Amino acid sequence: MTAITHNNEPASNKERESLAATEPDCIRTKTTSMAVLAKSAGSYHYTPEGRKLADFTSGVLVANLGHHPKRWWNRTLEYMGLNNIEGNSGYHEAVTLTSYNATTEVETEANRRLLSNMQAQPGGARMEQVLWAASGSEAIQKGLWASMARRPGEDVILATRGGFHGKKGLAGAVTGSEDDKERDPRVRFISFPKEECSTLEKRNEPIDLTKYREELEGLKAELGNKICALITEPYLGGGGSYHPQKEYLQMLESFCRENDILFILDEIQANFGRTGSLYAFSEYGVEPDLVALGKGMGNGVPVDAIVGRADVFAALAYGEGSDTWSAHPLGCAAVLATLDEFEGDDDIMGQAKGLSEIIEESLVKLTSLPAINAVRGEGTVWGVECNPVGDMSADETAHELVRLAYEGNSNGKAIHLLGPLAGKVIRIAPPLTMDHGEAREYFEVLHGIAASLGE
Ligand SMILES: Cc1ncc(COP(=O)(O)O)c(C=O)c1O
Repeated sequence: MTAITHNNEPASNKERESLAATEPDCIRTKTTSMAVLAKSAGSYHYTPEGRKLADFTSGVLVANLGHHPKRWWNRTLEYMGLNNIEGNSGYHEAVTLTSYNATTEVETEANRRLLSNMQAQPGGARMEQVLWAASGSEAIQKGLWASMARRPGEDVILATRGGFHGKKGLAGAVTGSEDDKERDPRVRFISFPKEECSTLEKRNEPIDLTKYREELEGLKAELGNKICALITEPYLGGGGSYHPQKEYLQMLESFCRENDILFILDEIQANFGRTGSLYAFSEYGVEPDLVALGKGMGNGVPVDAIVGRADVFAALAYGEGSDTWSAHPLGCAAVLATLDEFEGDDDIMGQAKGLSEIIEESLVKLTSLPAINAVRGEGTVWGVECNPVGDMSADETAHELVRLAYEGNSNGKAIHLLGPLAGKVIRIAPPLTMDHGEAREYFEVLHGIAASLGE
């Protein structure tokens, strides 16, 4: 691999060169910035050269509360009994770092708190048990395993075309479409109304669901009771930020109810506040049987889960959903501390609402620029779709925007963005707690940089 380098970044370039020699390319998706992050705090990252980058993506939608909130860390460490280590010799008595064939009070408390938090939300009535997982893909995999085991032999899964549920195993099989790769014969794709929600204006128009309903009826006629589950995201995240009309998800849910098909909502990206509610199922007015959680749930500590109906999980026998790291106490402690913050007095969702208005207003202004084709989103999760500019394709424009934002404007104000989604869509998802004045300032910076692409 040839290392990406940037001018005037000797320390970062050294790290990038070391990385190129010591890791294969495949560990990351391609990003023109390839930022080396020395430290992070709140809504900012800092490079080894001391440059400050506004984090417009919360890591990868994980640091919803911002990076390293002090109270959140103190609580996480308190739940673990790790907040008071003295000296360097000997051992410290604290919550153990394993959950295999044993449990901890941190885990059982996290179960209680997470379930009661979810059950209290509109649409959370089926949230009866937590099946922890070590990654988002594994949460999806476990949910689908349980769904297939519920009625042996009836193992067809419907998945919305263009979705993203992970890269491994069954999570990879329900991702994308039938054209992508060799498909799992148990998975059938259904249409998602991308065109109908391709702009903010279109999303505000009523949607005609007839053809989507007919497609489902056709599959039912063909497959009968073989369909065990339907999996979708509240909005297509990795697929390019397509946020459908609520009626579409409600129609999918009704079809599932009428036919005893499990309705699985993948909220790994949406959960913990992104869409404007703590969980997107409340925002969309649906009541899923299973909900996949991850990313923001641990505010940066890796922890994932599939949550939902106990009778569905009961279809898996002892050990079938187990592995080394699932229900890890540190992850459970992080979930507890994250719940403390969302349930506390700081009104995180109120802050997020104000931020959402700033994001929408700022991004809508971007659409007047030649480099920008459309913006889409809700709450604090948005996509900016780029245009071809000059000799650059839309994908190249998007990559160039990421690079220029990283390098910063003439005043040294810089923004950290992820490599584009679906080729040409830039993700905008800052921490929910980003200061509103600073958010306005950095959206101006983004505007200036995007404007320079059309010059
Ligand atoms: C909606 C959704 N589902 C599943 C996943 C997969 O999660 P992981 O990368 O932890 O396997 C992601 C990751 O981006 C996601 O956005």
